[in-house]
Amino acid sequence: MGNLQDHGLYQDCLYEVLACTISKKKEYPNTSSMGIRIIDDKLLKIKPYYNTMTHENIKECGTVSLNFIDDVALFAQASLKEIKGGFKGIPIEDYLYYDYNYRRKDYKIPYLKQSWMVIFCNVVNETQIMKQDNMGTINATEFELEVIYSIKKKESFKLYNRAENLALESIILATRLKIARENKDDILCSKIETRINEYLKMITQFGRNSSALKTVNLVKDYIKLL
Ligand SMILES: Cc1cc2nc3c(=O)[nH]c(=O)nc-3n(C[C@H](O)[C@H](O)[C@H](O)COP(=O)(O)O)c2cc1C
Repeated sequence: MGNLQDHGLYQDCLYEVLACTISKKKEYPNTSSMGIRIIDDKLLKIKPYYNTMTHENIKECGTVSLNFIDDVALFAQASLKEIKGGFKGIPIEDYLYYDYNYRRKDYKIPYLKQSWMVIFCNVVNETQIMKQDNMGTINATEFELEVIYSIKKKESFKLYNRAENLALESIILATRLKIARENKDDILCSKIETRINEYLKMITQFGRNSSALKTVNLVKDYIKLL
């Protein structure tokens, strides 16, 4: 296995991935969109918020797979979680497993068939953080991860275009809207909704990007159910 730079990932850069985790109690794996930051050739950081399943699972198991994905709509499928009978997440048949033995313990780390690169990691350190921006305050744990194994299926690196970048942002905002709704913060809700609608309109105007347009529909349906 090469180091992170050999995989085309650069120090201090941020990348958006799908993080797959599993809990000891539940057999069903969990997948969620997460940002990662590269620290050096073997270490990186991930910052799941307290209220996420990813946070709970990483805390419990200490392992995660980071899946690099071309299709933006899969980020929506992963992050817009089940509400009122809709949005089922990633289906079980999309998962594969990496068997791993660490300090005489066996682990089965889930990962996604659709990924073009997967990095399997162990937690080596953690720090509690509070993040504040104009879309609210978030409590999270910053987990420092070390690479234990990786799979690279192809060389090319997906560069998202404007429509896809806005699609990713609108999914993030939809997940923030859910939290604002739960907190009954009406002012924040309307601020987020306005921003989402602007982004969705722009994506539609860019046109013809099927993955981004599929995301627009998923985000619209999700917001209606909130
Ligand atoms: C591109 C993208 C990046 C995201 N990055 C993060 C992140 O770094 N930390 C986080 O907690 N949530 C992040 N989110 C939001 C989570 O994906 C979302 O809250 C999700 O529903 C959590 O799912 P879980 O409870 O299964 O972990 C991101 C969403 C998107 C679309």
